[in-house]
Amino acid sequence: MGSNKLESVAYGYAADASGLEQENRFLRESLENLEKELEKFRRNPLIACEVRQIIGDRALIRLPNGNEFLVDVANNCRQLLPGDGVLAEQKNLTIVDKIASSKRFDVESFVIVEKPTITWQNIGGLKKQEKEIKEVIELPLIKPELFVDLGIEPPKGILLHGPPGTGKTLLAKAVAQSTKSTFIEVVGSELVQKFIGEGAKLVKEMFQLARERAPSIVFIDELDAIAATRVDIGTSGEREVQRTFMQLLSEIDGFKNLENVKIIGCTNKKELLDPAIVRPGRLDRLIEVPLPDDYARKEVFSVHLEKMKVSGIGVDELVKKTENFSGADIKNLCTEAGYFAIRKNRKEIQHEDFLAAFEKLKSSESQDNEHLRMFG
Ligand SMILES: Nc1ncnc2c1ncn2[C@@H]1O[C@H](COP(=O)(O)OP(=O)(O)OP(=O)(O)O)[C@@H](O)[C@H]1O
Ligand SMILES: [Mg+2]
Repeated sequence: MGSNKLESVAYGYAADASGLEQENRFLRESLENLEKELEKFRRNPLIACEVRQIIGDRALIRLPNGNEFLVDVANNCRQLLPGDGVLAEQKNLTIVDKIASSKRFDVESFVIVEKPTITWQNIGGLKKQEKEIKEVIELPLIKPELFVDLGIEPPKGILLHGPPGTGKTLLAKAVAQSTKSTFIEVVGSELVQKFIGEGAKLVKEMFQLARERAPSIVFIDELDAIAATRVDIGTSGEREVQRTFMQLLSEIDGFKNLENVKIIGCTNKKELLDPAIVRPGRLDRLIEVPLPDDYARKEVFSVHLEKMKVSGIGVDELVKKTENFSGADIKNLCTEAGYFAIRKNRKEIQHEDFLAAFEKLKSSESQDNEHLRMFG
C-alpha cells in the first residue's frame, strides 16, 4: 500500500469524524431544545394576583378567589407597590415576576365620564350654595393665581349633604360645566357592591384619570356607602370597604390643593360619615342642600315651567301646596301635569292640570316614607 493511499484513508476518517462531530452537536442541540420544550409542559402555571401591602421583605398578596397570603418575594422583583399585579408560584406563592401594567384595567368603563351641560340657570333656589361652590371650587380652578399670590390654599373638595332630590348632583354638574371640567362620577354603593375586590384599585385609577383629564371634578355620590363609621370590620366585605375608603383618603391626601382636580362628595346621611373624610385638608367644606322653602320652590317651579308650554298658572298656590316637596318632586309634579294636558288633548298645560297632578300624587297608593314626607 503506497503512502499516498494511507494519507487519503486518514483524510477520509478525519472528514468522517468532523462530520460526525457536527452531527453530534446538532443532535445535542435539538435534544436541549426538546428538553426545554418538555420543561415548559412540566412547569406549573403561575398565579396572577395583586399586592396588597409590603411587610418587611415579604408581601401580602390577594388571590383571585379573595384569599390573602403573606409570601416571599424573589430577588429579581423587589420594589413592589401595593396594587401591583404579580405572578406567584403555585406551591408556596412566592412572587416570581411582576406583570407589566401597560394595560390598565379599564377605569373608564366603570365610572361615568362626561362634560355636563347643566348650567347654574337650570338650578332653582340654591343661590347661597351656588355662591359658596363658586368660591371654593370654581375660583381656584379658573384663577389659581389669586390663591398663590395671597399664599392661601383652597379646599380640595366639598361635601354636599341633604335630603334626596334637592339638587346636589345638579350643583356638581353645573360647576363642572362652568369650569369646563371633566366630570368623573362614581357611586359609593356601586364601588362596594359591583366592584367587589376592585374598589380600592378603581379609586386609585379614577384619580389617575382625573389628573390626566384635568381640570376635573371627581364626584362621589352616596359617599356614606364607603365612608361610614364602622363599628365592626370583622367580615371580609367590611374590610374591603375599609380598604376602598383608605385608598380614597390617601388619594385625597396625595394631591395638592391647587392641582386642578376637585372632589365633590354627596350624601343623604351625613351623620353616618367617618370624621376622617371631613377632616381639615380633605372634604372640609360642608355645604347643606336642604328641602326648598317657599321662595326656593318658586324658583324651582320657574326653572321647570320655563321649558313647558303653560297658560294661566297660579304659581303661588302651587308653591303653597308643595311644602316639603323636593326639587325632584316638583319636577315630577310638572311632568304629571303635562300628562293630564295630553290626556285632555290640549296643547298647553293649565293650572287645573297641576292641581289634578297634585291630587294624583297625594292619593297615590304609596304609603312609603316619600309620601309621608311630601304630604305629612
Ligand atoms: N334646586 C333645583 N332646581 C331645579 N331642579 C331641581 C332642583 N333640585 C332637584 N331638581 C330636579 O330633580 C332632579 C334630581 O335632582 P338631583 O339629582 O340634583 O338631586 P340630588 O340632590 O342629587 O338627589 P339624590 O340625593 O337623590 O342624589 C334634577 O334633575 C332636577 O330635574
Ligand atoms: Mg344625586
